[in-house]
Amino acid sequence: MKLLIFGAGGFIGSNLAEHLIEQGEHEVVGLDVTADKLAGIEGPNFKFVKGNIADADLANKLVADCDVVVDLIAYANPSIYVEKPLDVVHLNFFENMKILEYCLSHQKRLVQYSTSEVYGKRTRDESYSDDHSDLVMGPVQKQRWIYASSKQLLERIIYAHGVQGDLDYSIIRPFNFVGPRFDYLVPAGSKGGPRVFSHFLSALLTGGPIQLVDGGDKHRCFTHIKDACEAFSAILENPAGHNEIFNVGNPDTNTTMRGLAKMMQSIYGELTGTHPDNELIDIDGEDFYGKGYEDMDRVPPDVTKLMALGWKPTRDLDTIFREAIQYYLDRPDLTAAIR
Ligand SMILES: NC(=O)c1ccc[n+]([C@@H]2O[C@H](COP(=O)([O-])OP(=O)(O)OC[C@H]3O[C@@H](n4cnc5c(N)ncnc54)[C@H](O)[C@@H]3O)[C@@H](O)[C@H]2O)c1
Repeated sequence: MKLLIFGAGGFIGSNLAEHLIEQGEHEVVGLDVTADKLAGIEGPNFKFVKGNIADADLANKLVADCDVVVDLIAYANPSIYVEKPLDVVHLNFFENMKILEYCLSHQKRLVQYSTSEVYGKRTRDESYSDDHSDLVMGPVQKQRWIYASSKQLLERIIYAHGVQGDLDYSIIRPFNFVGPRFDYLVPAGSKGGPRVFSHFLSALLTGGPIQLVDGGDKHRCFTHIKDACEAFSAILENPAGHNEIFNVGNPDTNTTMRGLAKMMQSIYGELTGTHPDNELIDIDGEDFYGKGYEDMDRVPPDVTKLMALGWKPTRDLDTIFREAIQYYLDRPDLTAAIR
């Protein structure tokens, strides 16, 4: 098969490209505006095209020339949802709709990366089920939900095409993938910007305080990017992966953000032979991310449906964060900038 990855230069895209190159079973073409995270990721079955998805001629031509489109393009950091909500809708919905339209007109399979955030606020004491849980958004004034709303509407349109019978698709809902090449570092004490791992690591690298948004009592389940890439292959290759929605997550890695901060301190200490004693300080969510921020208390995935395809996550919480931290420790060019 010939796979086309839109957003191949990002965190998931670069890891997926590496995974598919190692497998060597498919021809892979990746498009992105940046190739920084693809440095050193090369193979005879991989070709990178630098370009913008807004270049309709280029995108349309690439889709016409592949078998499966993998759509990873989105703004995916919470601060952008409240700072630039209209940019989020433009990219995550309208530009993604164009990708769907190219797939429809050329009759190509679409693997759409959505988000676990479509579940929104948890109203029942149970794990999120791919096919049965309600999707519960906060008020319009809490602009954070514009990301999940954009993804949700895209999912609903893709699903409707599947029912109508003119689209072969799979929808993936990622539950906090982490691993090498995750996000980017920021100066310690920064607000907003990347996801929680980067803020905690920046604090560890500089000795600054670790900021715990809203007390750090929110829970998340994290997923190793390699488990996530294996999930992609299971969905791609299995006949039961077609026209279905899949949670991709690891239910056994639940932690609070306070617990994560302490675990990262301990792993960082082991990896560097130091004794990090960063102060843990509380910060209000709207102060950290911006007005209109709101958060889910916990996001537990039910992955029964995906496990029925023969997939099972095998990397634990310690491994997930150890490898992500080690990646940055091995890259002084990336850490020097914030020290
Ligand atoms: N990482 C996670 O745990 C997670 C969680 C939930 C959802 N997701 C979804 O998975 C997808 C990928 O996430 P990620 O973590 O790899 O994010 P990322 O930001 O690392 O990757 C997105 C990529 O899209 C590219 N891109 C953005 N605009 C573009 C444009 N106009 N033209 C070409 N390329 C463009 C970016 O340069 C970037 O490389 C997103 O749809 C995101 O919403 C990821």
